[in-house]
Amino acid sequence: MASYNVNAVVGVQWGDEGKGRIVDYLASDAEIVIRFQGGDNAGHTVINDKGKFGLHILPSGIFNPETMNIVGAGTVVNFDRMKDEMDNIKKTAGITIDNVFIDERAHIIMPYHMALDGAEEGKRSEKEKIGTTKRGIGPCYSDKAARMGIRAADIMDEERLEARLRLILPKKNRDLEYYGLDTVTLEDMLALCARWRAEFGDHIIDTQPIVRDAVEEGKKILLEGQLGIMRDNDWGIYPYTTSSNPTVAGACNGAGIPPRAISKVVGVAKAYSTSVGGGPYMTELFDDDGKRLRDIGGEYGVTTGRPRRCGWFDAVAADYACYMNGVTDIALTKLDVLDTFKTIKVGVGYMIDGEYYRHLPETRLQERAKPIYQEFEGWMSDTTGCRTWDELPEKAREYILALEKLMNTRITYVSVGPERNQLIIR
Ligand code: GDP
Ligand code: IMO
Ligand code: MG
Repeated sequence: MASYNVNAVVGVQWGDEGKGRIVDYLASDAEIVIRFQGGDNAGHTVINDKGKFGLHILPSGIFNPETMNIVGAGTVVNFDRMKDEMDNIKKTAGITIDNVFIDERAHIIMPYHMALDGAEEGKRSEKEKIGTTKRGIGPCYSDKAARMGIRAADIMDEERLEARLRLILPKKNRDLEYYGLDTVTLEDMLALCARWRAEFGDHIIDTQPIVRDAVEEGKKILLEGQLGIMRDNDWGIYPYTTSSNPTVAGACNGAGIPPRAISKVVGVAKAYSTSVGGGPYMTELFDDDGKRLRDIGGEYGVTTGRPRRCGWFDAVAADYACYMNGVTDIALTKLDVLDTFKTIKVGVGYMIDGEYYRHLPETRLQERAKPIYQEFEGWMSDTTGCRTWDELPEKAREYILALEKLMNTRITYVSVGPERNQLIIR
């Protein structure tokens, strides 16, 4: 048997770490790229010779016609949004997209999922709001767990689909009524699924035998994570989480890869941090430094356009993320955003109810945590033109090496700008 060549790229903060650009870089020679969880709540920015793209449900390997792109079993798919995204990219990039396949087991985001996502959020108080992307992610995964979901395979079989919908719709309509929303009809849902069958039928396949062959033949496979571990449904800031597992464990499950086949795990982290949506965020800044991080870093959501909450790097959370994911290599992004900061801080512990914490506690305690910072002198020079480790200012290298030590994980990639070539490989 050939040796395994499966690499995973996961977010090790609160999302938007720059996964898209790292996947784009690593995907250039991958045979298969697999999105393994989440849906079009993702917003992955890729800048390449064809332009600048914000990918939501399409994997970041679509720009290479030789790469097979899989929307895996662990995802939730909105076919209308997928079609819009494909049309848009075809138009702006001038490429054909026939290299995307959806696993039959992926769950389908139905119109009622999106309606319920907004309505459920509307019932939450300001403090309780998750700030979801309103893409129907939570309600769709809820139905999956309740065995009340529609899978891609179901829309390929009219009879089975009708039977499923007859079971599911009365309950969904009861939920819609509870929130004062319009109910849906069986006929409309059948017609919608028939349209999706016509549009996507050729792309809905059983990916498992293909992925298994590729794994066993040692072909290069790249697993593309969505969001970051701090919003993982089990290990993140529940209930301010997404409804899936953006971890390597989630990758194995959602892509159909045995854990022992994973050879490299790239954890993507910004050189500071951001978070979109509700929930605790211990190193958040409310001062001028926070505003500068947002302005210089262009920290606005790719999917929703919301301003991102900004703060210093949280080494305790990142160390937790590295352990939980078995990260082998960190990709540290957006170092250049810190170029004009005289002083840079890093969270190295928390005080909670008078007690010192060097590990990440459960959400309830995070809400009361005050970060303890270590300060670093800024390098105060432009790093955007640096292409090698040695070209980086000495103080920037010291900062990176300090983060490496705090996370106990090697920082292999450092990015100093959004362009494909603004990447230093150590
Ligand atoms: P993702 O969701 O993890 O793929 O990340 P997003 O695309 O949501 O957010 C990352 C943002 O940072 C995008 O606008 C990227 O173009 C930008 N970006 C990525 N790497 C760098 C970098 O090294 N420097 C700067 N200045 N911008 C970067
Ligand atoms: P990428 O892949 C940042 C956040 C939302 C909300 C919570 C749950 O670009 O990193 P959901 O719609 O999933 O039910 O929302 O998670 N969130 C993201 N934040 N980047 C994302 O994706 C996100 N996807 C969801 O703001 O707090
Ligand atoms: Mg994003």
